[in-house]
Amino acid sequence: MEPGAVFKEFLGEVESGLLSQLGGETASENDSLTAAARHLCLGGGAKRARPVLVKVFGNTLGVKTPALVDAAIAAELIHSASLLHDDVVDAGMYRRGRPTVNARWGNIVAVMSGDLLLSGALLRLSQVNLRLTQTALETVAEMTKAAIHEVEVRGNLELSFEDLARVAEGKTGSLFGWCGKAAAILAGVPEAEGRFDAFGRRIGVAFQMADDIRDVTGTDEGKPPFADIASKSPSLPLLLAARRDPALLRRLKEAWAYTAMTPERVKELGTAVLCSGVVDEAIERMTVEIDAAVDALGPYAQSSHGAELVGWARKLAIGIALKGAA
Ligand code: FPP
Ligand code: MG
Repeated sequence: MEPGAVFKEFLGEVESGLLSQLGGETASENDSLTAAARHLCLGGGAKRARPVLVKVFGNTLGVKTPALVDAAIAAELIHSASLLHDDVVDAGMYRRGRPTVNARWGNIVAVMSGDLLLSGALLRLSQVNLRLTQTALETVAEMTKAAIHEVEVRGNLELSFEDLARVAEGKTGSLFGWCGKAAAILAGVPEAEGRFDAFGRRIGVAFQMADDIRDVTGTDEGKPPFADIASKSPSLPLLLAARRDPALLRRLKEAWAYTAMTPERVKELGTAVLCSGVVDEAIERMTVEIDAAVDALGPYAQSSHGAELVGWARKLAIGIALKGAA
């Protein structure tokens, strides 16, 4: 089979696995938790970045076991669970071009639907491999700690870039890293675990930077722009703008001192951030992260599959910095 066809077949298996995990073709709309999970997970607009990553990592080590599909499904379920919770935390109203689960069903359904996806992911892994399960649990714990740290630094425009990267690594990089670790565990190649984990973590930070950039450029068609300003999240472009322009820092601080901002105020501040010319610098910083990720791969970057991994990661992060849905 052609490499492209193998890839398509793998992603097809992931889609069928997700569908059957979420009640199959005939799921009842009366089961609100499943209906909510299907709305997010099967409603279109998802890039399936984590399943793709699991497969590309798996190719690098020649993994053939069907358990790789389970790892990919689990990664997507954990990611989906985290988004259901994140939209409650951020009071996010739109995702992937549709109202969020919390907007449509309320916070209680969103949180519990996320819990259901998470338990489904971990149960699936526990039926495959104990170490996959343990490492996934460690990842979920790390994501959770990073998510609360992000809430704690809300409104802090003096946050260091290191702290910002730590939050991004915990929220996004740890699960990307797990995708690599899972492939290495299934391949039985312990020396690849650390390198793949490090690569995934740095790519995850780059990916999160891309998400921050799209928030100010308005290039995510699935969400309205400037949500980070509205939620007082010190994103990369906001921190860069605050350091570059003391007057803009004062305006942001003043606006963030109030409990809520009008949409007009958010738009005005967002436009000022965009006009401060920070997007190029943010893209440069993101590229530095991607280069560091490639360095972390070491000898694996040299193989033909390693080159595929690097190419995919660059395309994903840089591509979505300019356009795309999360
Ligand atoms: C999106 O970030 C959110 C994440 C990458 C992870 C959030 C993690 C938690 C809420 C911890 C709970 C974890 C689990 C597994 C249940 P964002 O708000 O920057 O991106 P967005 O613009 O897409 O909302
Ligand atoms: Mg969010």
